[in-house]
Formats: sequence, C-alpha cells, structure tokens
Amino acid sequence: MNAALDDTRVAPRDRAAPILASLPEPVPVDAFREQGAFLYLDTFLPRDVTDALIAGVRAVQGSVNRNYLPGHKQGGSVSRYTIDELAPAIAELYRSPVLIRWLETLCGEALQPSPDDDPHAYALYFYTKPGDHIGWHYDTSYYEGRRYTLLLGVIDDSSCFLEYRLHTREPNVPIVEDAVQIPPGGLVFFDGDKLHHRITPLGENEERVSLTFEYVTNPHMRPFQRFISNMKDAVAYFGFRQVFRQLLGKRTGRA
Ligand SMILES: [Fe+2]
Repeated sequence: MNAALDDTRVAPRDRAAPILASLPEPVPVDAFREQGAFLYLDTFLPRDVTDALIAGVRAVQGSVNRNYLPGHKQGGSVSRYTIDELAPAIAELYRSPVLIRWLETLCGEALQPSPDDDPHAYALYFYTKPGDHIGWHYDTSYYEGRRYTLLLGVIDDSSCFLEYRLHTREPNVPIVEDAVQIPPGGLVFFDGDKLHHRITPLGENEERVSLTFEYVTNPHMRPFQRFISNMKDAVAYFGFRQVFRQLLGKRTGRA
C-alpha cells in the first residue's frame, strides 16, 4: 500500500476536531446573506487537511467515471460509495460536527448530512481532459427542504473559473455576476437553488479536482423525486452501476 493511500485510512474522526478548530472566525454570516446565500473564501481548510484530501484524490483516481453530455457537461466524477471504499477520510470530514456547526452558523439553519442512499452526498469532480466543463445550472434540491453545496478546492492547476450569478431568483434585486478560482483549501458554499453557476472549460495540460459536500435541511425525498435525482446522477455523474448498486446487487445475488 502506498503512503498516500495509507494516509486516507488514518482514523480521521479523532484528528478532525483539533485541525478544524482553526476554521475562520468570526463566521462571515453577513457576507453570506448579502450575497444571496453564497460565500467564497480563498482560504478555508488548514493545509494538512487539504493534503489529506489530495491523498484521497490520488487513491480514487483509478475509479473515475467520465461523462459527456453535449452542450452541458464533460468530465469525471467519483461518488460517495467509491470514496467510502478508497478514501474514507473524506467521508469522515463530511460528517465532522465541527465543520457542520461552522456551516450551520454561516447559513443560520440546522443542517444534516444527505442520506446514505444519496450517491452525491459527497463526491469528487475531475477535470482532466481539455474541454472538461459543466454548463450553467442550479444545484436543484430534490429534497423536501433546502440543499446546500459546499465546494472545496483540492487540486487546481487550471485556467477554469467558477462563474456565478447571484440574486437570479430574488425579485427587485440586481443580478451580480462574478467568477472565482478555488485554490486548494478554498471554499464555496451556497444554497443550490439560488446560485446559477458553471465551470468554464479546462485547457490543455491542466488538471482540476474539486470536492463537493451536500447538506440538507430535511433529508426526506419523495420516491419519484429520488428516481429523478438518481437518473440525473447516473447519466451525468457516476454511471448506473454506482447509483443503482444496491438494486443491481440484489438482482445479481450480491449483498
Ligand atoms: Fe453545481
């Protein structure tokens, strides 16, 4: 086992709390509110946490599922199931009470991790081939409550920008457009139904990997909404084998 993979298997629950104790204070609640439930920080995670995420990326990069949806998306993704198997330290960070409390303070709402059957609860996005991108979209919540997206920069040797538009669904509020790059350890946090955003195409000989954590205010999702959400995740992100793994497992007699 190589050192990087081994590092992802270090008991992270115990180490997460002291490391994350250095998260930015005070929590910038005013900036988040004034930007219509959006925040960007170019520095958020301590360097050693970012290093652990990079080790996690290297551990899963042989299991990337690539998609090409003409006119909308091109790139690779790794679902929470693969992360659970190969980079469990990322899953532990996702559930870190210290991290969740910081985010709750930021958005002013009680947050919960996404349910165990959501392949998008935490995921890695790989931009590794020229032209990899995702077009304009919202991170629509199929849950009965709100769905917040936390994007963490992990690797960014690229010219990609997160371009975004604030206040698009607020009557009588001028739309604000801007663009940022998310360096390793940087943060973007937003209400998925409020931020219109895209990632611009990757250039030649570039690499970009970001980590997404999804938190919800109500983990209940109606069955039809779950079906739509799963189909989207299967087609646009993780493939049918990952998304419908439990169903496929039962059909083939596996656990
Ligand atoms: Fe998105």
